[in-house]
Amino acid sequence: MSKLSITYTPHLSIPENAEKAGVSVAAVRKYMAQRDISGRENNFRNRLTTLCKAVERMEKRGIVPTHKRLCEATGFSSKTVRKYAAILQKNGVKTYTDLVCNFPSSLPIIKSVAYTQKEILENIIRLYIPSKKIDCDLTYSVGKMWKGLPCPAWKFDKYPQIEGVRPLEEVEKMTCKVHSVMADPPFVISSGQTIDHMGKSLVHGSNMTSNRFSCFNSEEQMQQANAYLLSQAYRILIEKGILIYKIQDTISSGKQIFTHLWVANHAQQVGFELVDIFILHTKQRILSPKHQNQQHARKYHAYFLVFRKK
Ligand SMILES: C[S@@+](CC[C@H](N)C(=O)[O-])C[C@H]1O[C@@H](n2cnc3c(N)ncnc32)[C@H](O)[C@@H]1O
Repeated sequence: MSKLSITYTPHLSIPENAEKAGVSVAAVRKYMAQRDISGRENNFRNRLTTLCKAVERMEKRGIVPTHKRLCEATGFSSKTVRKYAAILQKNGVKTYTDLVCNFPSSLPIIKSVAYTQKEILENIIRLYIPSKKIDCDLTYSVGKMWKGLPCPAWKFDKYPQIEGVRPLEEVEKMTCKVHSVMADPPFVISSGQTIDHMGKSLVHGSNMTSNRFSCFNSEEQMQQANAYLLSQAYRILIEKGILIYKIQDTISSGKQIFTHLWVANHAQQVGFELVDIFILHTKQRILSPKHQNQQHARKYHAYFLVFRKK
């Protein structure tokens, strides 16, 4: 049997070799078989080369070759990218060492549930906020939420408590656009409550949460406040901008109010797409004697809904 003579380039795939040599894929396979070039070894080299090239191309364009991007660019599975990236690193391919170390796979897995809001916010930022900071907070209060995280440049609150926080209605005058917005409104409904000019309840012995963060008199009032926040967030966000909405369900007059569902539905009517849900699990809750006669599950969780402006 006469030996085929084609120009075979080891780092190219079989179809690429075929195209380059102007022969069929079957001819390349035959060529490899005649010279004992193992398909397995060939695959191994091809994959390594494909990964290297993808990294190089991204670097040239100033793009960080993250694990996810490498999977997309090479069409390889997550497992394959991890395997070959590790080989590159082991073989001392210094150019790629940092990239391999920076692969998100070396970071902890992002879970939908956490015990701290810092972990949830960090994870949302990791997944959805390329600038790595939230631009605007519509319910800043004293900014406890941002401890250990970059603080938003734009701070608003219905009842500003500290310097640098502007009254919420001033958001309507904002003409520039932001990439990300946070909202964490009150969630307690307490009919018959009178709220003072600082948003505090005037009723002695009222609910601790409503005293600290204000509350609503009715479900309608709560819906109006949520609708206002959603519409303003939509207005100030750029297209594809991200809104993070912290919300808890509540009970009013013995009835469960699934506020997170209302917010999720209304946000979609406003023009947002719900892209993720994180659940903050609280280990402890204040229990009152009323809980002796329990009618519903005591809620030990809050939601962080992540929306993208369509
Ligand atoms: C749960 S707190 C926010 C806490 C804040 N994220 C933090 O980390 O400190 C809710 C905030 O919403 C504000 N607020 C009260 N009534 C409101 C309303 N009707 N609309 C929007 N925000 C309101 C309160 O002043 C309060 O600061």
